[in-house]
Amino acid sequence: VTQPQARLLLISGSTRSGSSNTAALRTLAHLAPADVDARLYEELSKLPAFNPDTERTALPAVVASLREQIAAAGAVVFCTPEYAGGMPGSLKNLLDWTVGGTDLNDKPAAWINVAAAGRGTGAQDALITVLRYVSAALIEPACRCIPLPPGSAGPDGLVTDPDSVTELRAVLDSVLAAVAATPPAEGASTVS
Ligand SMILES: Cc1cc2nc3c(=O)[nH]c(=O)nc-3n(C[C@H](O)[C@H](O)[C@H](O)COP(=O)(O)O)c2cc1C
Repeated sequence: VTQPQARLLLISGSTRSGSSNTAALRTLAHLAPADVDARLYEELSKLPAFNPDTERTALPAVVASLREQIAAAGAVVFCTPEYAGGMPGSLKNLLDWTVGGTDLNDKPAAWINVAAAGRGTGAQDALITVLRYVSAALIEPACRCIPLPPGSAGPDGLVTDPDSVTELRAVLDSVLAAVAATPPAEGASTVS
């Protein structure tokens, strides 16, 4: 079996079925070349509320899986809506679970903000604050505001607006360039 040239973990901050943020990441995965394993993180809703006690005793399986998926990824891309002036609690909860495992330390990471122009900056700033706190390696050229026009996701859940697709392709290219320039971390091939 051929190993993928790169593995990307795509984390949406929205649990909504018709999410524009998830559509953007799904489109990113769709645009990825065949030798790139780009997968959407599917378990945001399943993560328990962060508890430092279990960190030291029995780590929940879904949290262990999250950490393995981050460790196995060459880069992580986030796309999140803004809730109440910040990032959704469910995404902050995910990020809190990564702190103890140092999972995101030095991990190439990027954010995409698909909110209307000038919107969503509270979530964007909050995400950047956390990514800096956990010492993720922000891929600056990949971190972009790509305001998705209303209704820009088709029935297949993919973004159809051509300008947005062009921007998403540029994000993907920047992320893959950063992965290619980063030596693989320990445990980078532990998940199949
Ligand atoms: C509970 C809640 C709080 C929200 N708070 C904000 C906000 O503070 N600022 C903002 O620009 N949009 C806010 N919104 C709008 C969402 O960010 C917007 O609908 C976004 O497109 C949802 O992303 P999704 O399509 O990926 O689910 C809020 C939406 C909800 C449901």
